[in-house]
Amino acid sequence: MSTPQPVLELDRINAFYGASHILFDMSFQVYKGRTLALLGRNGAGKSTTMKAIMGVVPIRSGEIRHEGRRVNGAAPHVMAHRGIGLVPEDRQIFPRHTVDDNLRIAAKPGLSGRADWTLDNIYDAFPILAPMRGRNAGMMSGGEQQLLSMARCLMGNPDLILLDEPSEGLAPIIVQEIGRLIRKLRGTGVTIVIAEQNMHFCLGISEDAVVIDKGQIVYRGTIEDLRGNEEITSRYLAI
Ligand SMILES: Nc1ncnc2c1ncn2[C@@H]1O[C@H](COP(=O)(O)OP(=O)(O)OP(=O)(O)O)[C@@H](O)[C@H]1O
Ligand SMILES: [Mg+2]
Repeated sequence: MSTPQPVLELDRINAFYGASHILFDMSFQVYKGRTLALLGRNGAGKSTTMKAIMGVVPIRSGEIRHEGRRVNGAAPHVMAHRGIGLVPEDRQIFPRHTVDDNLRIAAKPGLSGRADWTLDNIYDAFPILAPMRGRNAGMMSGGEQQLLSMARCLMGNPDLILLDEPSEGLAPIIVQEIGRLIRKLRGTGVTIVIAEQNMHFCLGISEDAVVIDKGQIVYRGTIEDLRGNEEITSRYLAI
């Protein structure tokens, strides 16, 4: 059998903030219908990688390919129209708008007109949000806002979802709920990249893993193999 085509491919990308070199020749692949954990400590470059994929941070060299097409330099809205959805680290909900409005603003069909996600089935999938429809998003807890940010991403019917530290700083009950949602999403066939510091959160959720440190890849493989690789986990992950 031939190797499957990756949905997303980073090929020796380099990214900078001003004069600071942040990502160094970073390469990895994400395959259709699979979930990849992008792991690394604080400041390792996880969010910068997500932003580079989404076109929020420019890359200076290397190539990003989506569905085999080079997408370097494409603007974030172009990437969104290609079926990629980012749930950013800072959530970026509209605090003065209601939950309902936050969701409606984001509604768009996916590629080839697919519209699996509607307001109604979002509220079915996110039971915590349902009773809050009319509430201003700024009045919600951090965990509720994280759920809203994920729900809003889904309203765009993405095929590839980038989740930037969805569990960070949240109460265990919300972390569990987010884990349940991600497992449910996987069942729909979407491709997912989760940036996380916490490998354990990703264990029952992702099959592939990449570990980065100071903007460089230090591990690429399955998360099961990573789990058993004490040299990498103790050196590069806070466990
Ligand atoms: N806007 C910015 N301007 C300059 N430097 C930045 C900027 N954003 C991030 N950095 C630096 O880039 C490096 C990588 O940061 P990044 O946010 O990608 O890490 P991260 O792995 O997402 O960390 P965390 O787990 O804390 O979210 C860090 O050294 C950080 O200080
Ligand atoms: Mg980050």
